[in-house]
Amino acid sequence: METMEPLERQPIIRMFHVSKRFEQKAALLDVSLDIFPNDFIFLWGPSGAGKSTFLKLLYLGEPLSQGQILVEGMNLSRINRKTIPQLRQKFGVIFQDFKLIPTKTVYENVALVLAAKGLKGSMIQKKVNQVLGMVGLGEKSDAYPLSLSGGEQQRAAVARAMVGEPGVILADEPTGSLDTASARTIMDLLDQFHADGNTVIMATHDQSLLNRKQCRIFQLDGGRLVNITPGS
Ligand SMILES: Nc1ncnc2c1ncn2[C@@H]1O[C@H](COP(=O)(O)OP(=O)(O)OP(=O)(O)O)[C@@H](O)[C@H]1O
Ligand SMILES: [Mg+2]
Repeated sequence: METMEPLERQPIIRMFHVSKRFEQKAALLDVSLDIFPNDFIFLWGPSGAGKSTFLKLLYLGEPLSQGQILVEGMNLSRINRKTIPQLRQKFGVIFQDFKLIPTKTVYENVALVLAAKGLKGSMIQKKVNQVLGMVGLGEKSDAYPLSLSGGEQQRAAVARAMVGEPGVILADEPTGSLDTASARTIMDLLDQFHADGNTVIMATHDQSLLNRKQCRIFQLDGGRLVNITPGS
């Protein structure tokens, strides 16, 4: 009988000998790994280890220098310009510094994602209100980002990352600048996203976050992948 790998065990992201150089400096060096559907991955390592670079390569925020990256079978070195939006819609990105647009309200910041996808007004309204409720910002939808606390801004950024229903969240130190209670709220939202069957890839240097039941840790140091726990 023919044996087939169950569909859900096929990697959604594969890296083969990936390196990224900025001029002569290697930010990532010879990284090979697979990421599977519904993984919760921590990219862990000290400042300068290559965590942000790793995330940027995935959504083509930067081109890679060497090697290959496949995202659901799309080869990022060969992707044509017209396909880049299709790649980016697979990811919801949460930045450490939020990157909310200061001249737009919380509602507008989140709605932009859906407008870019071509959804119509009534659907946009429904989904944005739903996701703002989920992150506990229902009352703040008309507020401007700079009038919010850091924790609230980060929750708005989480709402923006999740509203398009991406399969994968890329989170770059999403709790880095938050107090313990706000950080907890962000982790709970990511846990819920993961429990719904989605994939999370989160960069952190905070070792206290790693002590969780279901996660894999990719340890980076000086651009190299030095350890994967649990190993395969
Ligand atoms: N645009 C760039 N131009 C030049 N060098 C860069 C650039 N981006 C990153 N680097 C370098 O690449 C290396 C990895 O940087 P990266 O930002 O990926 O690290 P990190 O693990 O995210 O660190 P941190 O914890 O401080 O955010 C660093 O030495 C950094 O200086
Ligand atoms: Mg970083």
